[in-house]
Amino acid sequence: MLITNESEKKAFKKADELACNILKQKEVVIVTHIDADGITSGSIAKKSLDRAGIENEVIFVKQLDENTVNKVADRGKFVWFTDLGSGQLDLIDKAGLCFVITDHHIPQGKTPLQFNPHDFGIDGSYELSGATSTFLVSIQMGLNYDLVPLAVTGAVGDLQDLRYGRLTGLNRIIMKNGVKNGFLQAFRDLRFFGKQTRPVYKMLEYTYDPFLPGISGNERACLNFMERIGIPPKNCESWRRWIDLTYDEKVAMTSEIVKICIHANYPLKLIKKIVGESYILNGEEEGTELRDAMEFSTLLNATARYGYEEVGLKVCMGDRGSSYRKARSLLLNHRRNLSDGLKLVDEMGITEMENLQYFHAENKIMDTIVGIVAGMCFSKANLNKPIIAFANKDGDVKVSARATQRLVSKGVNLASALKFAAEKVGGMGGGHAIAAGATIPDGRETDFLRELNRILAKQVKSV
Ligand code: C5P
Ligand code: C5P
Ligand code: ZN
Repeated sequence: MLITNESEKKAFKKADELACNILKQKEVVIVTHIDADGITSGSIAKKSLDRAGIENEVIFVKQLDENTVNKVADRGKFVWFTDLGSGQLDLIDKAGLCFVITDHHIPQGKTPLQFNPHDFGIDGSYELSGATSTFLVSIQMGLNYDLVPLAVTGAVGDLQDLRYGRLTGLNRIIMKNGVKNGFLQAFRDLRFFGKQTRPVYKMLEYTYDPFLPGISGNERACLNFMERIGIPPKNCESWRRWIDLTYDEKVAMTSEIVKICIHANYPLKLIKKIVGESYILNGEEEGTELRDAMEFSTLLNATARYGYEEVGLKVCMGDRGSSYRKARSLLLNHRRNLSDGLKLVDEMGITEMENLQYFHAENKIMDTIVGIVAGMCFSKANLNKPIIAFANKDGDVKVSARATQRLVSKGVNLASALKFAAEKVGGMGGGHAIAAGATIPDGRETDFLRELNRILAKQVKSV
């Protein structure tokens, strides 16, 4: 891989160190996170250990709290934390574990047993995800370059390509290497969901981010739109998908969509994001949810976030039979939940405070997907304040927070803001500057918001 600077060299050296440590083990427990980046991280770790002949199992957790860390420690085995752990170093330390961590969340401290991009001055929100970090260790363990589609799917699942409409930094180096080795393709294309699997008119109908006035949510209007611009929605008897359109048709439709957005007075930044890089997994069948990294990562989110993490893991491990079928049916349910969630927020409205805006979904949106809904709300909500979402979670309250790139450049850091505000009311939190989460005791929402509002004011002023 083409490494250009000192920090990347240091990162590779650390990855090599951890790989040597892992290869000395006879048995490893992999502990990972319940989202696309977490599942792909866990499966990269699992495949690498399988290939090295090291016995292993994967455990999924929603978050690492004291209880979970202690349960893991009770097994008395060597632990490989993937896509989590860096934010909970004190808990891990206290539990007296033998471990390594490959994570990209803002670290709570330093340990030689952790591979975390932030330790090398590499941005863990855009340049390396849990899966791409784990991949760097994996390729030092053996010839695991073929796991690059999983790594890229994880990074895309964490929206690391959102800022520039393409992967950057070490993520990009990893992706390009995958292209060179024939595992991936990368090209500029429309960044809508469902290009592989949905009829074009359905893809348009279900596009809410950005909301396309007169198109989104209106099947008839989508068909009319296609006919108006001279693109037949059907070919003989079958509905045409985006991948079935000719190059000229794709260009024509993209420019019409851009016109709609200009007409709706959307900011140029948002309009530019309609087109960006797409990542195609060469080893997967065309027209399936696995072929495009964006669709694959959504399929994975649809499993583990609903308690079906084994299904997602098996798909990543290569099961194209019953697990894949189950994942597809879970995906339908996930899409419905996201669109119901957006409707609910529309109905109840978002309340603005001086430095933030929030909604409380109570038990109407699951705590595991409320963050995704919060992020999607930016297509309609105030872009100048972070969105804070609450949902009930086993007697406590889950908080999910999302910001925009512009807010982050103005000083907003949701990871530290949520951590401090949550700790102030007896909870815990962390994550990334642009996306973070927390759990707080039920009934403390108002105090939490007041504290968060105060911290956010300070963050913006201090820049
Ligand atoms: O735990 P983890 O790091 O894997 O999760 C990152 C979360 O941040 C994802 O849910 C992703 O959707 C969100 N994110 C976001 N906007 C960004 C970058 C990440 O909402 N620009
Ligand atoms: O759950 P959600 O998608 O909102 O999480 C956003 C980010 O915050 C993720 O990176 C997640 O790992 C992190 N998080 C955290 N501590 C929590 C909850 C979420 O670090 N208690
Ligand atoms: Zn992640």
